[in-house]
Amino acid sequence: MAAMRIVTVADDGTLARVAADLICAVVGAKPDAVLGLPTGATPVATYRELERRSAAGKTDVSRAMVYAIDEFAGVSPATPGTNHMFYRAHLRLPVRALHVPDAVAPEPEAHIADFAEAVRQAGGFDLCVLGIGTNGHIAFNEPGSARDSRARVVDLAETSRQAHAAAFGGIERVPRQGMTLGVADLLEARAIAVLATGAGKAEIVRRAIDGPMTAAVPASWLQAHGDCTWLLDAAAARTLRPR
Ligand code: PGA
Repeated sequence: MAAMRIVTVADDGTLARVAADLICAVVGAKPDAVLGLPTGATPVATYRELERRSAAGKTDVSRAMVYAIDEFAGVSPATPGTNHMFYRAHLRLPVRALHVPDAVAPEPEAHIADFAEAVRQAGGFDLCVLGIGTNGHIAFNEPGSARDSRARVVDLAETSRQAHAAAFGGIERVPRQGMTLGVADLLEARAIAVLATGAGKAEIVRRAIDGPMTAAVPASWLQAHGDCTWLLDAAAARTLRPR
């Protein structure tokens, strides 16, 4: 049974607290929870809030396992702009383990398939948090990604490369390929939360939630999930149909 919850809050500060509440609730109920956590500008405030709560002893994440959901391919992980570097900068939580695909894996196709298998072997995601790209991507599942797509190497959309240009120090430095968990891998999570803020996301959020399920908008596949919560600020939610 598909079930989609839409939680709209006033602003991104509130969103960070509500998202942290959700993550803390999962870890509170299951201290050794397996979490998928995204990169991007959107979750940074959420991670800061989690860090504060952890430091204050309000949540114990020490047994939780975190897996990244994607990574660039073909660059050293230490390159500014990689997801590896993002987590180092923004996810400073004392979790049991943080696993990120190896950006310089010699066989990226096999590496990301093994990575997805490792998530399954760990018990699968209790909660997978996602962002949404302005083109509707989830993780690096760019438009055209089928509902049954699995972990794989993908060509990155130009919009995605542009979004990372500043972090890499110029568009020409942004890798052309990435490794990603597939749509089907993400849909296996027991619960999913999607974070989106700002007017720039309003149109794609509307298409993902209110439009048809289609590979043209990979985030629309989340409509098929049984426990998916969209956490939106007012600006990102403003074109949703009234409900
Ligand atoms: P953003 O990225 O949070 O930087 O907007 C979202 C995404 O591409 O998943």
